[in-house]
Amino acid sequence: MCGIVGFTGRQQAAPILLDGLEKLEYRGYDSAGIAVAQAGGAEPSIEIVKAKGRLKVLREMTDDGRSVSGTCGIGHTRWATHGEPSVVNSHPHYAKNKRVAVVHNGIIENYQEIREKLTKEGFSFVSATDTETVAHLLDKYYTGNPIEAISKVMFRVRGSYALGILFADRPGEIYAVRKDSPLIVGRSEQGNFIASDVPAILKYTRDVCFIPNLEIVKLTAVEIHFYNVDQEEVEETFSEINWDTEAAEKGGFAHFMLKEIYEQPKAVRDTISPRISDGHVDLEELGMSREELAKVSRLQMVACGSAYHVCMTARYMVEQTARVPVDVDLASEFRYRNPVMEKDTLVIVVSQSGETADSLAALREAKKLGYRVLGIVNVVGSSIAREADSVFYTWAGPEISVATTKAYSTQLAAVYLLAIGLGKAKGVIGEAQETQMVEELLRLPEKIERILEEKERIQWFANKFSHSKDIFFIGRGLDYASSLEGSLKLKEISYIHSEAYAAGELKHGTISLIEDGILVVGVATQKGLFEKLISNMVEVKSRGAYVLGVTSYGNYSMEDVANYTIYVPKTMECFAASLVVVPLQLLAYYVALGKGLDVDKPRNLAKSVTVE
Ligand code: G6P
Repeated sequence: MCGIVGFTGRQQAAPILLDGLEKLEYRGYDSAGIAVAQAGGAEPSIEIVKAKGRLKVLREMTDDGRSVSGTCGIGHTRWATHGEPSVVNSHPHYAKNKRVAVVHNGIIENYQEIREKLTKEGFSFVSATDTETVAHLLDKYYTGNPIEAISKVMFRVRGSYALGILFADRPGEIYAVRKDSPLIVGRSEQGNFIASDVPAILKYTRDVCFIPNLEIVKLTAVEIHFYNVDQEEVEETFSEINWDTEAAEKGGFAHFMLKEIYEQPKAVRDTISPRISDGHVDLEELGMSREELAKVSRLQMVACGSAYHVCMTARYMVEQTARVPVDVDLASEFRYRNPVMEKDTLVIVVSQSGETADSLAALREAKKLGYRVLGIVNVVGSSIAREADSVFYTWAGPEISVATTKAYSTQLAAVYLLAIGLGKAKGVIGEAQETQMVEELLRLPEKIERILEEKERIQWFANKFSHSKDIFFIGRGLDYASSLEGSLKLKEISYIHSEAYAAGELKHGTISLIEDGILVVGVATQKGLFEKLISNMVEVKSRGAYVLGVTSYGNYSMEDVANYTIYVPKTMECFAASLVVVPLQLLAYYVALGKGLDVDKPRNLAKSVTVE
């Protein structure tokens, strides 16, 4: 999604802005631009430079920022929503007479109506964006007091926004405001920053404040002031970001995705270990007593993308472990379907970023309906984390690659812990079973490590299929949920058409798509369903498919059917998803690599989807 960075200080701004934008590249973008205040001339002005495509182009146009003078500026990477990717639609946007420049993340919902009115008043628009309306509105309301103008705009626009603003007659000052779209400020000796995400400024400062919703910020080189929408000054606290700078960089791996795949043992360990005390699962951080947990009659899980697949896994896993019914919805569907839920339903929103627009809206919908919401979130202080009644953090650390891997694995781990805690509170599982499950949970990281040691086998196999046109994944039960994730990983980064099917559904249509040589990946870790899945694999093989089996060590009869088999270590069946997903991630990675694709930044995709 779009990225924002801003700097005002003692150094030249443009190189810092470009550097910050580069750190936000992982969010996905199609154009970029910077605006820098020029205080020197007869009249102060704002210089804007924009380019379509990669940041490299902007770097070339500005000699890595050196040709744009000035020590105060804002920058933006745009992921098109309103209007095609182009220079004219890219940010920053000027207002009339170039008095104001604006960068924006989010969507102004009533921009059409505002645009029509402003056009009648004589404002002329050059872009197709919703953002340009904000620039003109600011210009219209600005009579020398930026905070007043911004507050008026806030009353006029609907939707979500994180805005970085420059006023030409106030060089050295950056203004920022946000509603439902993340934005932070950072302070340092060299100057002050705004950014849509921490990595953009981590190189310069760790002293940051997550701007509260509906607050306005004024930054100069040495001061930061916060105001509410009524223009009253308010105090905010800063906190120290303790992420490792290294953690936001590649550390010797060819891609962030591979690095993050390799970080899974640690991430899973970091998520599980703090929640185990004396061999028991400790869910104290949920702020729910054992009695409250025992009263939960149903789980309603909501998420998008891979996080949704975690919910699909949870449906099978939690229902078996805690005997609590689990409903699963895509957040984009849940938010509009006016759901019917029973009284003691616990709503769980799963999100790596904590900023996914649909997931956040689903959370708000559930809260509006009066339900308790638990967020399973990776980014500390993100919107979902702040707005949920309780948060269960996944400690995956920053995830940069657009295709999620380690965050997914930690979300699975979080679900297991909740399932055990819930099963225990409800008396479905006893001490002995808890101990057995906890011991196995603690062994998962080392089992993931063992799979990683065999990555060459998967790489070899992936190279054979990197030119496939279609690849299918089949599984039953928990393995169906893992198949969904395997298929998503593959299609996101390799651009190969891929679908996952509950194997029992094959005969109802999909089997007609099976042709000679097509790759079908069969995932089979569940004992009771193993034979059934084998039969499905025979069915596709007899119609010409090339069959890859993914199963646990010991299930050697897989080789009677599969053309090639990948084994993962044995674990309790309910945790199998954590192991089989690893070869599926590696398969996707190596197929994409074999095709020479930009693995970390797949086309058209964004890491954090903060618009609907
Ligand atoms: C995007 C990402 C996916 C992610 C999904 C949900 O589509 O590319 O990897 O699963 O958003 O994101 P969230 O941050 O809510 O987990």
